[in-house]
Amino acid sequence: MIHDRAIYAERRRAFMSKMERGVAVFRAAPVAVRSHDVDYPYRQDNDLLYLTGFAEPEATCVLAPGTEFPFTLFVRPRDKEKEIWNGIRAGVDGARQAYRADAAYPIEELAERLPKMVEHAPVLYFAPGRDVAFNQRMMDLFAWARDNRARSGAGPRGVLDPGTLLHEMRLFKSAEEVGALERAIAIAAEAHTAAMRETRPGLFEYEIEALVDYTFRRRGGSGPAYPSIVASGHNATILHYVENDRRMDDGDLLLIDAGAEWGGYCADITRTFPVGRKFSDRQRALYEVVLASQEAAIATVKPDVAFDAPHKAALDVLVDGLIEHGLLTGTRDAAIESASYRTFFMHRTSHWLGMDVHDVGVYHVGDGPRALAPGMVLTIEPGLYVPPDCETVDAGWRGIGIRIEDDVLVTEDGGRVLSAAVPKTVAAIEALRTEA
Ligand code: GLY
Ligand code: MN
Ligand code: MN
Repeated sequence: MIHDRAIYAERRRAFMSKMERGVAVFRAAPVAVRSHDVDYPYRQDNDLLYLTGFAEPEATCVLAPGTEFPFTLFVRPRDKEKEIWNGIRAGVDGARQAYRADAAYPIEELAERLPKMVEHAPVLYFAPGRDVAFNQRMMDLFAWARDNRARSGAGPRGVLDPGTLLHEMRLFKSAEEVGALERAIAIAAEAHTAAMRETRPGLFEYEIEALVDYTFRRRGGSGPAYPSIVASGHNATILHYVENDRRMDDGDLLLIDAGAEWGGYCADITRTFPVGRKFSDRQRALYEVVLASQEAAIATVKPDVAFDAPHKAALDVLVDGLIEHGLLTGTRDAAIESASYRTFFMHRTSHWLGMDVHDVGVYHVGDGPRALAPGMVLTIEPGLYVPPDCETVDAGWRGIGIRIEDDVLVTEDGGRVLSAAVPKTVAAIEALRTEA
């Protein structure tokens, strides 16, 4: 977590400087019930977290630039009894002192105070979120303020999405954010390397999942940024396989897609390697295609290049490889035009990475893909997945699933691969497997 309060103050200042005159409301993520009276581990809404660093549930942040109290926090009040059961709360004083709120109130006072704060605001910034009941309250509030405007002549003329401003800010990572991402990625890299060393025929996928997740926590991460995918054999052809309950055999490949979360920032790394010591000839052939496509994609990353340049570069190499090995027929252009390659490669090559694993920020501006720029972080993750029942290919190819995913920071003059510490060439992987 970024603890320097000045950083959050600067983010709020920057956000408010971009706002039209009005009021912005950010709601904490709701607590989610896992079953009966057990909740899922709490995770704060990333917009609220980005602006405040405040990680407790039942909170609301109101930003009102140009007023006496630009930053108001509504929070759970201190409560001796509840804190004994559920942990310490910052409370109203903590919100002011530790989180630098200009004003702070118990969350119970939100219903009474928020209308007054919004009543005369020319614009209301609010994005409907996962707290459905709160979305309704905001709609009711807007309807009330709208009626009022008829009489008073003041009040919100509309509701705007704060994400159009805030998510542009989140898309460009500051030095502190890059530092947090590097930390998350270093932890994930250690976990992947440990998994690559410890995997053995006869182990179950969940044993390797346990090693991966153990490494995340052991190194101070908050846990996996998304459920760790540990997919051996045919399971690797299921993109979001999370059962992780199969016994691994010699001759299988193992695909691990796992990233630690550290300080609210996500790693997202995939490696695919043999459960035994060596790739089979067919596994190696496809692996080399995916690796070449990934390297071609990474090589395109630099400022002013279109966001989809890595995807296009990866696709050319993947399609050429599929044709070369007889999994596709015809020409590259025809395969791309007809999308016949989608039998084997059905996802995109990149997404933004940050506080969310599929991070915020638009991919298109106007009618084209946006240009990459320094400070953006994206994944590069081509793959090939031969369906186990694919009758158009030789049986020897069926059930092979391979993905290679790295996290890349766009720099002034190119791209820096933040996850380069995990082996990915055939020689490096086989050396590690043999040594292990
Ligand atoms: N782990 C999710 C993804 O790679 O996009
Ligand atoms: Mn991934
Ligand atoms: Mn990814």
